[in-house]
Amino acid sequence: MLIPSGRILTAQPCEKPFAEGAEKQFYPSNSEKELYCIAKPGCERALKKEVQRCKDISKKLSLINEELHLYLKMDEAPSEQQVRGKYTLIVDKASGDLEKTIEQAGTNWDKDRAIKAMKQIIAGMKNLHDVGFIHGDFKLDNILVFSKGEGIEPIYKITDFGKSLEVTRNQIGLYRGNSIFASPEAEQKWESSAKGEVFSVALGCIQLLGTSLRQEGKPSDLQGIKKLLHEDPSIRRSIKGQNRIKKLWKRIKLFTLYFFCVRLLGRPDSRAENISKKIHEYVDNMEGFSEQLKSLLKRMTQARPEDRPSMDEVYKEFEKLELLKEPSQSILNH
Ligand SMILES: Nc1ncnc2c1ncn2[C@@H]1O[C@H](COP(=O)(O)OP(=O)(O)O)[C@@H](O)[C@H]1O
Ligand SMILES: [Mg+2]
Repeated sequence: MLIPSGRILTAQPCEKPFAEGAEKQFYPSNSEKELYCIAKPGCERALKKEVQRCKDISKKLSLINEELHLYLKMDEAPSEQQVRGKYTLIVDKASGDLEKTIEQAGTNWDKDRAIKAMKQIIAGMKNLHDVGFIHGDFKLDNILVFSKGEGIEPIYKITDFGKSLEVTRNQIGLYRGNSIFASPEAEQKWESSAKGEVFSVALGCIQLLGTSLRQEGKPSDLQGIKKLLHEDPSIRRSIKGQNRIKKLWKRIKLFTLYFFCVRLLGRPDSRAENISKKIHEYVDNMEGFSEQLKSLLKRMTQARPEDRPSMDEVYKEFEKLELLKEPSQSILNH
């Protein structure tokens, strides 16, 4: 049974977390609007590091408000509220993450909602890159949805900064994020950079837009682009998390292979080109979106990082874009 030591005894003890990821668990708190966040076993150091990263990012931002679309508030709980005496944080309770929201919405997840979400996500990622950080694990379950009530547009905020990196322009770090959303250079060489993240953001946006086109009766999981990235034998990327030892062993094997085949025999950029080509074919087949929007997504998923726009350029271009195929159907008031 999980009862924070100082918890009022009349409160329902909870065994089941409200939500959980690979490293953290979220439990209901004494307040309707907040959750307790604790680290899963072995992940406490990572959680502390994440809290520090959130502070570092916050310090660089002149103003923290809803418009940033970044969720950075992770306050340490007072000692009497610590869950089982563990390092406990208090966070604002979101209605869920974007991946689950899309799944739950089913065919109600339409183009209008998808484009509005995309606009906020691009703004959030631009704000993060502007202050010299990259997220390092961009995917739709790391985007929180704060619903403001029936008929009111939800606010989307990027969360989970545990793998974020401070990078100066064009600098390269080690990619530790999800393989399905990885750029080709992140997947092959574990290189993480701002331009690599542009690729990941595009994949997330393609997933958002693509799922808005699904029709009733189609399977709800592994939709669209994820299905392509997972099932095409020439691309195939893993979806399920692997344990750390297995991951490390795989990296050692792949690195050795990479070193001999790539460094000694020349770089096979063909895999990156192939991935890019397959994604572009998928984008071309997304009905109902403008050619301008498709062109932006295709540039964001170019095989070579230097051919991709920066997040700032993406943001500025998106502001001016005609988004849907029929100009008269434009749903955003720019
Ligand atoms: N503030 C929050 N409110 C509601 N649910 C949340 C909140 N933060 C995270 N979650 C849920 O918990 C999941 C895991 O959180 P995350 O911060 O991504 O941790 P992990 O590092 O374990 O992936 C998210 O995908 C989301 O579904
Ligand atoms: Mg996460």
